[in-house]
Amino acid sequence: YNVPKATNEPVKSYAPGTPERAELKAMIEQMRSEVIEIPMYIGADEVKTEDVRNFTSPHDHQRVIGKYHFGDKSHVEQAINAALGAKEMWAELSWEHRASIFLKAADLAAGPYRAKLNAATVLGQSKTAFQAEIDSACEFIDFLRFNVQYMTGIYKEQPESSPGIWNRLEQRPLEGFIFALTPFNFTAIAGNLPAAPAMMGNTVVWKPSDDQIYSANVLMQLFKEAGLPDGVINLVYSDGPEAGEVIFNHPEFAGLHFTGSTGVFQHLWKTIGENISKYKSYPRIVGETGGKDYILAHKSADAKALATAIVRGSFEFQGQKCSAASRVYVPRNLWAEVEGYVKADIEDIISNRMGSPEDFKNFFSAVINERSFDKIAGYIDRAKESDKAAVIAGGGYDKSKGYFVEPTVIKAEDPFYESMKEEIFGPVVTVYVYDEEYFDEAIYLVNETSPYALTGAIFSQDRYAIDYAAKKLVNTAGNFYINDKPTGAVVGQQPFGGGRGSGTNDKAGSMLNLLRWVSPRTIKETF
Ligand code: ALA
Repeated sequence: YNVPKATNEPVKSYAPGTPERAELKAMIEQMRSEVIEIPMYIGADEVKTEDVRNFTSPHDHQRVIGKYHFGDKSHVEQAINAALGAKEMWAELSWEHRASIFLKAADLAAGPYRAKLNAATVLGQSKTAFQAEIDSACEFIDFLRFNVQYMTGIYKEQPESSPGIWNRLEQRPLEGFIFALTPFNFTAIAGNLPAAPAMMGNTVVWKPSDDQIYSANVLMQLFKEAGLPDGVINLVYSDGPEAGEVIFNHPEFAGLHFTGSTGVFQHLWKTIGENISKYKSYPRIVGETGGKDYILAHKSADAKALATAIVRGSFEFQGQKCSAASRVYVPRNLWAEVEGYVKADIEDIISNRMGSPEDFKNFFSAVINERSFDKIAGYIDRAKESDKAAVIAGGGYDKSKGYFVEPTVIKAEDPFYESMKEEIFGPVVTVYVYDEEYFDEAIYLVNETSPYALTGAIFSQDRYAIDYAAKKLVNTAGNFYINDKPTGAVVGQQPFGGGRGSGTNDKAGSMLNLLRWVSPRTIKETF
């Protein structure tokens, strides 16, 4: 059980003159100079089809950087068969063997693959270098190393025995295959959702978001190079409902590891429920879904710290984090000062630090695709026309070259205005200014406005107010921050996940999560 102690991978700065900056720049140039061919990975095969689709950069949507081979139902079936075929071999390997493969994968990500993973995330998902680094390098590496450590904790935990009786708990993988359905917004999450069940001895069919296929390809190459046997993780690209039809009708379907929208998750849960009598076992359903994450400021808050949290929490990676701040409750006594800081920062971003993520000076880039752009623009347009809300910063958008939406602040006069309660998943934050003597009313609004409960933050210098809010808001966030932005959870330090409409709160990168992928067998031996 003496695995190397997991510690968080140090974040590189990519500051001018650093070797990592030069290396990443060269890798971005190399990767964008070619059109990478991206197969599916099923069993031992790299599978190519006639249905070849273009992968383009969101910030430069006419530039093709990859061509991927899209599959159909038959490929999903093949992937299931490959997963089932590899199952016995994989489940029978020692856990040390499995652990060593994922520790090797972490080392590859920290070393030779770091620039490639980050470049793929910059080019394919329009993350800035720093946002790519904290995701596809550090968070991915941390998921692997910490999960190996948590895994040993799970195997080590044993029941009591007594003279003449030896009791054991065998943490068996689930019977059947796991389906990992992964999002575009974090390369680390895309890698972790198949890796975590695989680590526990399961085999997996992995379908990424179409918008993340470019970096998923690099992750898969890394897993193979780390020594992952064929068939343990099978990567397919296909239409979601078609894949679902094959997966959820299969008797060996054993579990869903999902990150994505609340609507899709609820639909999949219903589908699984409708098919429940077809399965050999009750499937495990683990999902991290939407958010309408809040910052609540008390009248004692530090205005500058609050403004910084609003800008960083709402606009890093263009607000496309499930954890992103998207509704803010500011007391009237602080509003003028906070508004001044936030507007100045946004003007600076729009004038000087918005554009291609390949340009290292930029803080802010494009949103992921046209559908997302149109949806976000709709919220902005409606706020511009509404008598219940106004756009007070940003508000511009342009999709001629890339899907660019300015960092935008809406000020709502109605605390239940649509953008105070609905998830937009883009760079739009809505502020409601409350009378500072009515802190309880603000707490009530946080609780009642939205069906989600992923992340939330309280800003205050008053210990009593902090404790009071923490108690009253207990069900509003799986990750609660005091005087910090509600994004950027670190594996091993702030286990991540939420409740209510935001998911099953099984905390990615934790022992809780890994326990969902095992089915223990208790053994009693008498002598
Ligand atoms: N784990 C990511 C964050 O905390 C989503 O921002």
